[in-house]
Amino acid sequence: MNKLNHIAIIMDGNGRWAKKQGFLKRIVGHEEGAKRVRELTIHASNIGVKYLTLYAFSTENWKRPEGEVSFLMKLMDRYLKNELSLFLENNVRFETIGEIEKLPESLQERISYTKEKTAHFTGLTQVLAVNYGSKNEIVRAVNKAVKTGKEVDEDSFDDLLDTAGMDPVDILIRTGGDKRLSNYLLWQAAYSELFFTDTLWPDFTVEKLDEIIKVFKGVERRFGGIK
Ligand code: IPE
Ligand code: IPE
Ligand code: MG
Repeated sequence: MNKLNHIAIIMDGNGRWAKKQGFLKRIVGHEEGAKRVRELTIHASNIGVKYLTLYAFSTENWKRPEGEVSFLMKLMDRYLKNELSLFLENNVRFETIGEIEKLPESLQERISYTKEKTAHFTGLTQVLAVNYGSKNEIVRAVNKAVKTGKEVDEDSFDDLLDTAGMDPVDILIRTGGDKRLSNYLLWQAAYSELFFTDTLWPDFTVEKLDEIIKVFKGVERRFGGIK
């Protein structure tokens, strides 16, 4: 049976969920989606997963209407404020990947504060991908390497990425029905097991995650070798 250390999720379909429910505003879907984050974080923590990496806002999402972007920034701020107690009660460490420096000051402060308060926890690490794009991350890593003037190998390059020190991604899930990576963890997903589900993110329950985990456990992972 495969050991499961790291689950990464592209939480897609919030807008379509809101529309399907008859709401006029897409943001209702984002609100509902944030509730699933809470439930899945508790669950992942209970079953001993080490990393849960969640795509919250991509480098491409700035293209959305200003109102939706600013709502998402406020939602992340509110989410972190409300979720601090959940992190504290469940031994959950909070981390981010992505270019945090380009986010609104107040959100940056909230992120730093949450990281600081949870840095000593040893259970699950919840990693929020905010203003994250894989190409952006790789280019930043290359520039760090250029500055040191030293050639990199696969391991030392890993250490220059935002995901430095994290276990490899075992399961990568995309909800919402589309089968694309949308600039998410391109390097890190080199050997991930990929799961695509039509379920929209606000409908993605703990039970649905468990079904995926069950399939993952039985997959023969060969990593290029033979069994
Ligand atoms: C994912 O849901 C959340 C973010 C990208 C922030 P969407 O907002 O992309 O919802 P759909 O895909 O339009 O339904
Ligand atoms: C990917 O979803 C980004 C997040 C879930 C944060 P998008 O809705 O932005 O992706 P595309 O536009 O369908 O590729
Ligand atoms: Mg989408």
